Amino acid sequence: MGPSGSGKSTLAGLLLRFLQTTGGAIRLGDRCVEEYSLAFYYSYFGYVSQKTTLFNLSVRENIAMGWTAVPLERIQEVCGTVRLRETVENLPQGYETLLAKRACSCRAVRCSGSHLPERWSEIRRF
Ligand SMILES: Nc1ncnc2c1ncn2[C@@H]1O[C@H](COP(=O)(O)OP(=O)(O)O)[C@@H](O)[C@H]1O
Ligand SMILES: [Mg+2]
Repeated sequence: MGPSGSGKSTLAGLLLRFLQTTGGAIRLGDRCVEEYSLAFYYSYFGYVSQKTTLFNLSVRENIAMGWTAVPLERIQEVCGTVRLRETVENLPQGYETLLAKRACSCRAVRCSGSHLPERWSEIRRF
């Protein structure tokens, strides 16, 4: 939290390694953050974006977001955590429902009244 222009986005970008320092260093323990693999480093972060970007992919893929081989049980678990498991599982194609912007399936999700797309970032945090 802080006033506009105080450096919130810059700090978030630096911590998430979207930006690189031009001076000084950001350390985790006694090592610079760049020394850790991204997969290891990101395992410590929960990131909830203000603006949710949905990919033209299935519910399952939108939750896993690039992580391969996430077991379905884990996807079901995070949906349960944000109380969306029942909604998703009641869709005709369940976790394989396409979330394409103008696709029928997406309208079905929206019509369910669960605001599913709006809560995507929250799901991804887990
Ligand atoms: N520590 C800092 N020292 C100098 N300039 C900074 C610093 N942090 C951010 N800035 C600059 O200040 C401006 C606003 O920063 P930004 O991160 O967008 O603020 P916020 O997200 O809080 O509105 C940007 O031009 C950024 O490059
Ligand atoms: Mg900002």
